[in-house]
Amino acid sequence: MKSLIAKVKSEKKAILLAHYYTLPEVQEVADFVGDSLALSQQASRTDADIILFAGVHFMAETAKILNPNKKVIIPDISAGCSLADSCPYSDFKKFLENYPDHTVISYINCSAEVKTLSDLIVTSGNAIRIVNSLPHEEKIVFAPDKNLGAYINSVLNRKMVLWDGSCHVHNRLDREDVMRLKRKYLISPVIAHPECQAPVLKLADFIGSTTAMLRYVRQDSYSEYIVATETGIIYELQKQNPEKKFHIVGASETDSCNDCIYMKKNNLENIYRALLEETPELILSQEIMDKARIPIEKMLSLSIGL
Ligand code: 13P
Ligand code: SF4
Repeated sequence: MKSLIAKVKSEKKAILLAHYYTLPEVQEVADFVGDSLALSQQASRTDADIILFAGVHFMAETAKILNPNKKVIIPDISAGCSLADSCPYSDFKKFLENYPDHTVISYINCSAEVKTLSDLIVTSGNAIRIVNSLPHEEKIVFAPDKNLGAYINSVLNRKMVLWDGSCHVHNRLDREDVMRLKRKYLISPVIAHPECQAPVLKLADFIGSTTAMLRYVRQDSYSEYIVATETGIIYELQKQNPEKKFHIVGASETDSCNDCIYMKKNNLENIYRALLEETPELILSQEIMDKARIPIEKMLSLSIGL
């Protein structure tokens, strides 16, 4: 299957982009694997004719918005995101009526429609830098992730108004799960994604995006780590650090609830079929793409060097 995918990919001049949360075999056949920031940067500079996005719906939408004249296909159109779903367009629009003089910053994990209501987009890899670039007195609404928003507020001493959204994977990791591992692996540092709740983040030695966590472990000298995020990161952590050990928070032999069910919908079979049939194709109206592109491009220009 892997060689068939490679063959069709080169015949059709297609690029396969994959997030670190996808299955190992998907990451192995991808042309580029990254976190949300790196994937949007890669999507903005590709010269491929077709972009096949093995990730979730909002990521493929971002690729389409940045490449309105290219075909963007997604292996399973039902690969959504609970965090993006926690912020419906019409509810958010109504919410914003209460904050007319606020700058609207949205985390990239939101729908294209919500992006059209936003002044700026951020990812977990650039959120602190971008929010910090705005004057301290600027009034800000941050959506949809309340945990990431609260984390930014605490690091930068801001009072952004937060939309009450969360990711079903990160929001369910709890302090006790981390403590259990800390008691078992006494000196191992804890690394965590900022979509986790504050009590989990308080126990973390390092907080950052998927790429930032990978960099931290690569440059650090401990031999074991406690990892509070989605399970997919383990594949790349282990690949980059074969001699180190990783203990994932919340997962056990009988419970893999911190697998993102949406990311895991991408597999070799549906990738091959999507490439062959060039479907399901991601379609967005010109109006939505043109409006949503503005805050995404602002983000990309503020992320140079990251
Ligand atoms: P990253 O920004 O680290 O890629 O995280 C994306 C995501 O969906 C986290 O749940
Ligand atoms: Fe969305 Fe959570 Fe999956 Fe990330 S892990 S894609 S935020 S549902």
